[in-house]
Amino acid sequence: MRPLVNPYNPRLLRSRFTAYPLGGWPKRREFRRLYRERSGVSLYRTWRPLVFADLVGQDAVVRTLTSALESGRLAHAYLFSGPRGSGKTSAAKILARCIDCVNGPTAVPDNTCENCRAILAGSALDVLEIDAASNRGIDEIRALRDAVKFAPAAMRMKVYIIDEAHMLTKEGANAFLKTLEEPPPHAVFILATTEPEKLPVTILSRCQRYAFARIAIPVMIDKMKEVARGEGIAIDDGALAAIAYRADGGLRDALTMLEQAAAFAAGATITAETLDIAFGATGRNFAQTLLDAVVARDAAGVLATIETASDAGADMHVLTRSLLAAFRNLLVARVDPDLLARDLAPEDARHAAERAANVSQAAVVRALRVLTDALSLARSGGSPRLELETGLLRLIFTSEDPTLDALSTRVKSLEERLAGDAAPAVAVPSVRKREEPASNAERKAAPKPEPQKRDGGPVSLQKVRAAWQNVRGKVESQHPPLQGPLSGVRVESVEGDRLVLVARNDLDANIVRGRTTLIEDAISDLLGTSLHVSLKADGSPARAKGSAPGGVASVSAAEPSIDDADALFNYANERITNA
Ligand SMILES: Nc1ncnc2c1ncn2[C@@H]1O[C@H](COP(=O)(O)OP(=O)(O)O)[C@@H](O)[C@H]1O
Ligand SMILES: [Mg+2]
Ligand SMILES: [Zn+2]
Repeated sequence: MRPLVNPYNPRLLRSRFTAYPLGGWPKRREFRRLYRERSGVSLYRTWRPLVFADLVGQDAVVRTLTSALESGRLAHAYLFSGPRGSGKTSAAKILARCIDCVNGPTAVPDNTCENCRAILAGSALDVLEIDAASNRGIDEIRALRDAVKFAPAAMRMKVYIIDEAHMLTKEGANAFLKTLEEPPPHAVFILATTEPEKLPVTILSRCQRYAFARIAIPVMIDKMKEVARGEGIAIDDGALAAIAYRADGGLRDALTMLEQAAAFAAGATITAETLDIAFGATGRNFAQTLLDAVVARDAAGVLATIETASDAGADMHVLTRSLLAAFRNLLVARVDPDLLARDLAPEDARHAAERAANVSQAAVVRALRVLTDALSLARSGGSPRLELETGLLRLIFTSEDPTLDALSTRVKSLEERLAGDAAPAVAVPSVRKREEPASNAERKAAPKPEPQKRDGGPVSLQKVRAAWQNVRGKVESQHPPLQGPLSGVRVESVEGDRLVLVARNDLDANIVRGRTTLIEDAISDLLGTSLHVSLKADGSPARAKGSAPGGVASVSAAEPSIDDADALFNYANERITNA
């Protein structure tokens, strides 16, 4: 960390940069650039905030600290917690100068008085920085315990900045706690940490806490713009956004990347492509292209994009997650545009809002489900690429128009197709009932289909199918590993109190079979009836026998439209219950 230098310190500049004449000092920004170029200090340090006004994206913290300082309320111990690169160390140093500035205590240190300059240069005897992560940490804490008793040498207060405080060893923390229990009136402690939960409560409870936030994307972009302008770095908006996304809420990482990209570009304008080359592709662009293809129902485009991404070495897991995030953003755009404005670059937020207006909410929700299924299938042993491809294709080929009107048209045409097959005693009534899904009351009043009512069997196939997503949700929340297997399970038939489920393959069937009680319990909770669940694997010979009268199983084996009807039914039901 040391030596810590204020690049705007005229005395320093005079001694180091003799090239500058005494008349007419260059502007502060110019100072920073020259200072950095000549001394090799990294960009993020050159741009360390010098006053609270320089600290971006931490309005709440700044407001509270400022008003406390203005009203003269000083605490003995502060704890700055938050993600890395969010300004904790910078704020601690500013606060130290606020406290010890010759013209203080103040909320705005002048940074020019002798105290401020000494603190900035790291030479102040009364302001000590202890890096708890270094192996000297413990010695320094012990030394602190002895030294803290003595009055400050030159300044108002002794200020101890304990950085990375969660790294304190047990002995270190204990030694420090002794000091904190009886702090001398002339001492102030500022702890900074990324992991406050690792600190003992005895320490936490004695500190005034300030939570630093992840830096929002647009804020990060603005700051980088300012720095790039100040440093004469040419960079386009796409690249700024790309850096901000990669930096994951930390401004230090963003500035470091900006600096590396500038070195890489060697004077040329930095673009998103520059970053992909310099740091490796993230799959973000591919995700956007994929999203467009899915929305346009362009199956060929989907496959081509996945192919290209795969060739470019993009990780399919990461790509699926990026796509999930992209769909999530479409939903957020509808629900809370302000939230989106925090998470995305302005251009991307606008884009997402436009897209969201053209895609139905139900379609987005379906996409989210398909993608989470693809992820969990890939996790439970599938091929990430295959799951992504099949998931998206399914999404494209089975997507429905979201309006109930369109829905009933589709139901009608399905019904006609099925009627031609002269059988489906089970499937047809279930579909016909949805033809006019006007109200809940009507839904309940509708007659139940005959075949299930054996021995007064209290629950119909429709009812189970309608509740299946909820049952599944409940079971999966109790036992998450079932997510993969259950995502391929179909509700086949109900005969009396026997519910037959069909899994994709033997393996899945076996896994689910081991947990049928969970399913039975969920059904009895949600539907108020107890059913015995049995499982079959798709394509197993037992299949045809176990089906309900009317030959549903044989129809469904030959005619994929039953699956369609099933999906349609579930979908309609979801819409009605959510309406
Ligand atoms: N909130 C912020 N406002 C302005 N610059 C910041 C902010 N947070 C981080 N930075 C930049 O990142 C650098 C490192 O920040 P620092 O205060 O050390 O972060 P932390 O201690 O939270 O990891 C700073 O020198 C500054 O250039
Ligand atoms: Mg820090
Ligand atoms: Zn000062």
